[in-house]
Amino acid sequence: MRSLNIAHRGFSGQYTENTMTAFEKAYEAGADGIELDVRLTKDGEVVIFHDAKIDRMTEGKGAVSEYTLEELQSHPIITRPLQKAIKQAVIPTLSEYLECAKDKPLVTNIELKSIKKNYRLELRVAEAIQIYKMEEQVIISSFLENSLIRMKILAPRAKTGLLLSKYDESTIQMAKELGFNYVHLKAVNLTEEIIESAHAHGLGINTWTINEMKDLEKANALGLYGIITDYPDRLRTIQYND
Ligand code: G3P
Ligand code: CA
Repeated sequence: MRSLNIAHRGFSGQYTENTMTAFEKAYEAGADGIELDVRLTKDGEVVIFHDAKIDRMTEGKGAVSEYTLEELQSHPIITRPLQKAIKQAVIPTLSEYLECAKDKPLVTNIELKSIKKNYRLELRVAEAIQIYKMEEQVIISSFLENSLIRMKILAPRAKTGLLLSKYDESTIQMAKELGFNYVHLKAVNLTEEIIESAHAHGLGINTWTINEMKDLEKANALGLYGIITDYPDRLRTIQYND
């Protein structure tokens, strides 16, 4: 079966990452899935945003968690030139995204952007995917296995993927025993041995982030579950006849 073409932060190779435009353009470019990052605002809203601070993506400063949703959205995102002609972007909420995605044949990979316990974020994400009846269309990923264990309780029909910066056999074993569905591996760590081992444990592999045509071609031949790329258009071209 062909690997899912998963757009990293939307079509972020061309459009501003984690914006509604980047998600819509990824879908138009033929992506099967969207990867996005979520954080919690001061007033408990789930927003789609990668960094802990707003400094890189807006002209404001400070932590996402120190702002209410209204305050955050008063800081427009610094948009890339191609996108500027389309519309000014503001930080989207997860609900806004789910409302758009719910009727599309898309898998959504929601990465919980938390490096410590954040029960409230987990709870809010579970509520949102249940409200929009999207539980079966999402993969929740995190570097924290405890977070995924809780997500399996809160949203049992959602798939789970453990993010790994480094691969080791005991972690794969643990991911299997905890009932996770996928391991998300950095592309540089992929070897045939690792792929065989994960598959032998019944775990699918999603790899990130592959952008060059020659690397996408190689990855496409490996039988992975998903390939996360900033350029879903490139992977679509490679997979055109698959
Ligand atoms: O999900 C894989 C990848 O998105 C993790 O890295 O920094 O792009 O969120 P980052
Ligand atoms: Ca991510």
